[in-house]
Amino acid sequence: MQVELRVQRFDPSENDEAWWGEYVAEVEDNGRVLDALHYVKWFVDGTLGLRRSCAHGICGSDAMVINGRNRLACKVLCRDLKQPIKVEPIQGLKVEKDLIVDMDPFFAGIAAVKPWLINDSPAPAHERLQSPAERAKYDDATKCIQCAACTTACPIFWTDEEYVGPAAIVNASRFIYDSRDEGSRERLEILGSKGGAFRCRTTFNCTDACPRGIKVTERIQEVKRSILFRKM
Ligand code: SF4
Ligand code: F3S
Ligand code: FES
Repeated sequence: MQVELRVQRFDPSENDEAWWGEYVAEVEDNGRVLDALHYVKWFVDGTLGLRRSCAHGICGSDAMVINGRNRLACKVLCRDLKQPIKVEPIQGLKVEKDLIVDMDPFFAGIAAVKPWLINDSPAPAHERLQSPAERAKYDDATKCIQCAACTTACPIFWTDEEYVGPAAIVNASRFIYDSRDEGSRERLEILGSKGGAFRCRTTFNCTDACPRGIKVTERIQEVKRSILFRKM
């Protein structure tokens, strides 16, 4: 099938202004937006810049704004969208070229909440055991692929550069509620301070944007409660 695309283009080495590239791509009937962008890059204009890797919704590298919504280009079928399909870079991060944005501030927000297991107790003879009920407490957060669809859909993140963003809070919650972890107090301290979870105004854009179906706002509210009721 033929697909009409309007893609936001920007190359700071050529022009200070962004512009709209209009293209017609050939894709299979079940072709995804990523396939249409590949067609443009490979057969129409090789200068188009975009990130992608797995092409199967796992790596999180191709989040973009598709017909006004944050989506993964590899997870959206062209036939389900109104044409011309409008494709723009995710918002709130500096555009480096076309659909490629500077992800450093996003990953800095995640790194700030220490998203790794902290446990300084002597290691047991075998593994650190965990019951199915304990594992279930943080299951939702394990699905995150750090695609930034949530954070770049958040109006607070767009305007407040101190806010770590919803993805960082989800990644913190992955460890805060892990029974094997001993770093919760430290993470809650970070998330209870300026730029932390209370910057969230519960607008739910993040939950709507998440391609993994994570209940992002619920995770944030859970963390807010833990901050308020933690033992100092
Ligand atoms: Fe992407 Fe969802 Fe993780 Fe946010 S919570 S980074 S939208 S997978
Ligand atoms: Fe932003 Fe999500 Fe909160 S969109 S304001 S982090 S509910
Ligand atoms: Fe990996 Fe889309 S290319 S998630």
